Amino acid sequence: MGPISNRYTRLAGIEHPIVQEGLGPFKTPKLAAAVSNAGGLGTVSMPGFPRDLTEGARTFREHIEECASLTDKPFAVNIPVGVDGDGNVLAFTDAYINTALEARAADDEIAKRLTVLTTSAGFPGKYVGPIKDAGMVHQHKVGSTAQALKAQEAGVDAVIAAGFEMGGHAPSKGVHTYVLVPSVTEVVDVPVVLSGGAKDGRTLAAALCMGAEAVAMGTRFIASEENSDWHPSYAQALLSAQEGDDVAFTGVYGPCRGLRNRASLRLVEDHDDTTDPAELLRWKIESMQRAQTEGDVEDGLVLAGQVAGAIGEVIKVAEFVPAMAEEAADVLDRLAARR
Ligand SMILES: Cc1cc2nc3c(=O)[nH]c(=O)nc-3n(C[C@H](O)[C@H](O)[C@H](O)COP(=O)(O)O)c2cc1C
Repeated sequence: MGPISNRYTRLAGIEHPIVQEGLGPFKTPKLAAAVSNAGGLGTVSMPGFPRDLTEGARTFREHIEECASLTDKPFAVNIPVGVDGDGNVLAFTDAYINTALEARAADDEIAKRLTVLTTSAGFPGKYVGPIKDAGMVHQHKVGSTAQALKAQEAGVDAVIAAGFEMGGHAPSKGVHTYVLVPSVTEVVDVPVVLSGGAKDGRTLAAALCMGAEAVAMGTRFIASEENSDWHPSYAQALLSAQEGDDVAFTGVYGPCRGLRNRASLRLVEDHDDTTDPAELLRWKIESMQRAQTEGDVEDGLVLAGQVAGAIGEVIKVAEFVPAMAEEAADVLDRLAARR
């Protein structure tokens, strides 16, 4: 047992209340395994929005198998519930959820490790039953108190409260974690995980003070030695970023936060109404992937949270995760001793 154990660590079966959350549409099996091996909860991300769903499902399955081969600890998958303009769930969501459930059903060793399924973006109501029937923990990422309540009523086991400053696709309401997390913890009984801006033991301690039982980070983990599937220029761009170097633009499904560069400014400033919407969508996805695979951090969309402006070094996950939990426990002990 680690220095901080609570309902969330018991629910997820982990040592430290520290989650590496989904980083799609990118490859994260090595990073996920490293975080799980360090006592946190690693997450295999959705690999993309392929035209051919069978091919996308095959890639996702390979990433799940790779992660399971690198750790014997629990890990998660993250699958956004994509929704079209008419409110219909996009086909990729069904394909990826089925892939995760099938991977577990086909292999006991995967079932033992892939124990958490995280949904995000749209409402996950229709997936709660199948995920529960499979015996998995279901956590859902929300951006408002109303969404948290709705997710709890639908039967999820935990909610991830995602604030304005987070990297990647951000909730449309854009409520800051400092406002959102306490409000969410007041209305739900299930464990709450803070997502957005966490980076060290002090921020984990702050999250616990606000009533959360864990933090889910994205940006901090990208700049890590174990994230070797990504082009090093991506992490370097995060480390070079200063306060104010992030910007929100319209991503694939709603607002999205990334670094300010030629690609994101094209979306923020140009308002190019003449581009075919399908073509623009394809460009966004391809330019995100180009940043990650080729290190094109000027003409590629570099998804990142505001916290990029507050991190300055590459971490070693194996040491970072336990040290972060220790630091949080020390901070809380010091504060308690002052009374
Ligand atoms: C590069 C990148 C990709 C992301 N992709 C996803 C995703 O596929 N699904 C999702 O639910 N959240 C995604 N997110 C959000 C993260 O899971 C997490 O909630 C967020 O990074 C937390 O804020 P932080 O960046 O301040 O740590 C992404 C974030 C980043 C930085």
